[in-house]
Amino acid sequence: MPRVSKLYFKTAIIFLIVGIGMGLNMAISQDHSVIGAHAHCNLLGWVTMAIFGGYHALNPRKAERRIAFIQYYIYTAGVTLMVPALYLMLLGNMAMEPIVAAASLITFAGVLIFAFIIFSGEDVSVASPRNPVVN
Ligand code: HEM
Repeated sequence: MPRVSKLYFKTAIIFLIVGIGMGLNMAISQDHSVIGAHAHCNLLGWVTMAIFGGYHALNPRKAERRIAFIQYYIYTAGVTLMVPALYLMLLGNMAMEPIVAAASLITFAGVLIFAFIIFSGEDVSVASPRNPVVN
C-alpha cells in the first residue's frame, strides 16, 4: 500500500475512535449538542479520509507524487483543527467561530487539491499480471 494511503488510514481510524467516543458520550449523557462535531469527525475524518486513502491505493503512481502528500497534510490539518474547534463552539464557546471558519476553508482547500489529483492526467493502474505497474 502506498505511504500516503497508510497515513490516511492511520489518521482516519483515530478520527473514528474520537468520533465514536463523542457519539457514545452524547448517547450516555443524553446531551446531543455536539452532534455537528460528531458527524464531521466521522464523515470528514473517518469516511472521507478512508476514501482518499483507498483512491491512492488504487492509483499507486499518483500516490507517490509530492502533491498527494501536500494534499494529505492540508486536508488533515483542516479537519484536525475543525473538529475540536467545532466541538467547543457547539458547547457555547463562540470565540472558536473564526477558527472553525478558517479550518473549514483549509479543509475545503484540501478537497480542491484532491479534485485536482483526480482530474490530473497520468493513466495509473494497479499491478496485475495483465497490467503490471512499471516504475
Ligand atoms: C458507536 C458509534 C456511534 C454512536 C454511539 C453514535 C451516536 C450518535 C448520536 C447519539 C447522535 C445524535 C442523534 C440525534 O440527536 O438525533 C448521532 C448523530 C449522527 N451520527 Fe453518530 N454515532 C456513532 C457512529 C457514527 C458514525 C460511524 C458516523 C458516520 C460515519 C455517524 C454519523 C452521524 C451523523 C451524520 C449524525 C447526525 C444525524 C442527524 O442529524 O440526523 N455516527 N450519532
